[in-house]
Amino acid sequence: MKSIWNQPVQLPQKNRLTSNMRADAAVIGAGMAGILAATLLAQQGLKTVVLEAKTIAGGVTQGTTAKITSQHNLIYKKLIDAFGEEKAAQYAAANQNAIAKYKEIIDQNGIDCDFEQKNAFVYSLDDPKIIQSEVNAAQRIGIPAAFTEKTGLPFGTAGACMFPDQAQFHPLKFIAALAEGLTILEHTMAKEIDGKEIHTDGGTLHADFIVVATHYPFINMPGYYFLKMHQQRSYFIALENASPVDGMYIEAGGDGFSFRDYKNLLLLGGANHRTGENKDGGKYDIIRKTGGEWYPGATEKAFWSAQDCMTLDGVPYIGRYALTTPDMYVATGFNKWGMTGSMAAAMILADMIAGRKNEWADVFSPQRMDILPSAKNFASNAAETVSALADEIFMVPKETLAQIKEGDAGIVESHGEKVGVFRSEDGQAHIVTTKCAHLGCQLAWNPDENTWDCPCHGSRFDTDGNVIGNPAMKGLWGNKKLSRSQQNKEVF
Ligand code: FES
Repeated sequence: MKSIWNQPVQLPQKNRLTSNMRADAAVIGAGMAGILAATLLAQQGLKTVVLEAKTIAGGVTQGTTAKITSQHNLIYKKLIDAFGEEKAAQYAAANQNAIAKYKEIIDQNGIDCDFEQKNAFVYSLDDPKIIQSEVNAAQRIGIPAAFTEKTGLPFGTAGACMFPDQAQFHPLKFIAALAEGLTILEHTMAKEIDGKEIHTDGGTLHADFIVVATHYPFINMPGYYFLKMHQQRSYFIALENASPVDGMYIEAGGDGFSFRDYKNLLLLGGANHRTGENKDGGKYDIIRKTGGEWYPGATEKAFWSAQDCMTLDGVPYIGRYALTTPDMYVATGFNKWGMTGSMAAAMILADMIAGRKNEWADVFSPQRMDILPSAKNFASNAAETVSALADEIFMVPKETLAQIKEGDAGIVESHGEKVGVFRSEDGQAHIVTTKCAHLGCQLAWNPDENTWDCPCHGSRFDTDGNVIGNPAMKGLWGNKKLSRSQQNKEVF
């Protein structure tokens, strides 16, 4: 399934790396964060090369709702309580400036990407106090937020926190325009970084500065990002003939619905869950059923899903990759707010690489040591990883191959090994290991997407074991397809 962003856009096609090369700066990853970082680095005169394992904007950028906003649910009260007013103000300023920077780039380059300034709202169905607290917190650090009961939503609320002059756009039209002028090498997977050298199958790229913008960082050590991030999935539909909401909306708390318009369509999303924890499926059904009640005359025109990296304290990791890698940088963990997060990252990293002081950088430092706000989420991530590793070793498969119906999947035993089996509509069994190719946790079936997903750090694989979402760098072993008659001869 494709999001509405794919449909009218032709992204530029670029060559792959076929020999050794030198650059001042290398950016790994051609999603929104990578393209923006490369744009700003190239603007400051650095010979910049982007390496992309697949194609430009071919990953999670396609799933975004493309809200360009500094309003990130109920974050400012939480930030002031956890980090103090100064750092909360850094976070706000970075994101407010990110909105202005989008406008500047779009205006300067005449980019036609349906950019519109709109207000953003976080609403509550039953608790005006949490909304008022967020309004107060945002005002304290310089955002002109206001409490309102007037929204464009199809139901009443207890109140909403409104941020004025935020924005929305078409992300792939924007990326397509910027990518034209950049040196990008597609189908070139960075496999290893050794000092200033990035090794790929097509050659080595030597760069004085390296930015890792691969959604989930692919180098486990140093950095240890696998200890401090998990991933979440969410689901979206685009409805025609639904009344416009004229703004961007998110429900307070993060488990509710998201709304925005795009031309004659309403984009409605929600049904969030940790990646790897959707064994019963039905997430699209939740959105469709609720959307149908709110907008009975509407027609669905597209559906798609998104995947986001979630940090321990709700703040992205932007800055030096690790204390031991002075010229290597990272931009990750945008916690569902990847448009402003990517631009803030690009501006901060461009300053750091140029040796300029950036006044917002502290709060985003990947090496921040504010332990308390992170402790609870660290413990919960660690418990999830231990449980998924233990499942891989100790969980005994309960199903047999014969019990798996067409269009469904399960975990069975074969030759003393646990394998995941998806049975396609023609009866063929698609067999892969259930051991994640990243760090070995047990994968779980996602019936909404027909994928094998990892609860530990969110890698995803298709039914034949190919990687469709990192941090895993390689596919699953197994990748065997057996017809019905072949299945009778195998040991299951
Ligand atoms: Fe890390 Fe699966 S994504 S073990």
